[in-house]
Amino acid sequence: MDTRSARMNTSYKRPAETRPAQTNVFPRADTLPVGVVLMRALLAIAVAALAAIAIPGPFVSAHVRPSGVTYTREIAPLLERRCNACHGTGAIEPALDTYDRTRALAKVIRDQVLEGHMPPWPAAAGFAPLRDDPRLTPPEIDALVAWTDGGTPRGDVPAPAVGTAPTSTPHALEWSVPAGRPGSVGSERVSLDRPVEHNTWINGWAYRPSAAGNVYEAIFSVDGRRLGTWVPGQREVLFPAGVAQLIRAGASIVVERRFQKSGGRESPGGTLSLLMGAPGRQPEHRELQCGNTTLDRDAEALAVQPRAASAGDSIEVIAHFPDGAIEPLLAIARYQPTRPIDYRFAASMPLPRRTTLEVRSSSAGCAADVTLTARSKDAPGRQR
Ligand code: HEC
Repeated sequence: MDTRSARMNTSYKRPAETRPAQTNVFPRADTLPVGVVLMRALLAIAVAALAAIAIPGPFVSAHVRPSGVTYTREIAPLLERRCNACHGTGAIEPALDTYDRTRALAKVIRDQVLEGHMPPWPAAAGFAPLRDDPRLTPPEIDALVAWTDGGTPRGDVPAPAVGTAPTSTPHALEWSVPAGRPGSVGSERVSLDRPVEHNTWINGWAYRPSAAGNVYEAIFSVDGRRLGTWVPGQREVLFPAGVAQLIRAGASIVVERRFQKSGGRESPGGTLSLLMGAPGRQPEHRELQCGNTTLDRDAEALAVQPRAASAGDSIEVIAHFPDGAIEPLLAIARYQPTRPIDYRFAASMPLPRRTTLEVRSSSAGCAADVTLTARSKDAPGRQR
């Protein structure tokens, strides 16, 4: 077991879970007479009220609505799960890695999540379900709002370890990716020098940056064939079952990074891992231009990355099936060029031969990179 998961386990073991049941001397509430239950409830309220008066603290004010949501029990794990791949220690500002830093920004955080700005995800909801959709669930949003409005209490459960410490992955080929020069503008290409010695099939890949810095995109390719795009906060990419990419012996691996035009921080070095696995149908990238492209054979779409001409444009990718049905695969109301996400479908999307893919945008000059594979033989027909 690695030290990190060991720490997580111990910090979550509460006394109640380790104590044998018979040491619980109080009878359960449902076996008590009504009067006793009422008295207990009143006592609990009185204790809570006394506590509020006795320890007013800097955040107890007339506007505080206590909710019972605490930093250590709900908020720290939520931030770790949903935010700290980007806002962990040493990564994108603001760091949300300690109680004090998070509490100081509580109102900004509340507004960002209520407005749907964080986590950033330009794709509109309601179309084909996407993998790793980072949007918060309504209960998660409620918890952040309740915690802020409740006076940002710390709570007393030990906070889980935060940060995204790089660990090495078993069954992976790993390269270290060098860091870029501070203040670099535009883009930069580096080749990773250790070639693969034998033909190797991979079922996925991951890039772990040492710090997210000012890079907003890293495109990995193998022998000129695109592997995929990494954006800050992105975790492991696993291909669907039956899909694998062949890396030939001696293949060259190239990383192309794009930087924000401002910001003097050094770009991330890091580790590229190729997750070795069984052979399968290879993914293949098609660059579609604005307008219609008709497929000449049965395929499945795994992912799509649309690109509009400029920030704020809308862009959509729509499938027109041979049976006349029309299904939008992805819609972006306001394109953000600095978030070039490979939107991967939760389930690969069957596209029978003669399906037309339409890419359209509010302005001319759009494109979409679509990742396709050959249709799997035992795939069910298109679900309607
Ligand atoms: C994919 C990376 C990513 C994830 C995940 C993410 N953020 Fe951010 N966040 C950013 C970036 C980049 C910025 C800088 C501003 C921008 O680009 O919009 C930012 C800015 C912020 C800001 C500052 C906004 C301001 O106006 O000062 C807050 C607060 C914030 N994020 C909170 C959160 C919270 C809370 C979560 C999790 C629920 C979260 N973020 C998840 C990337 C991310």
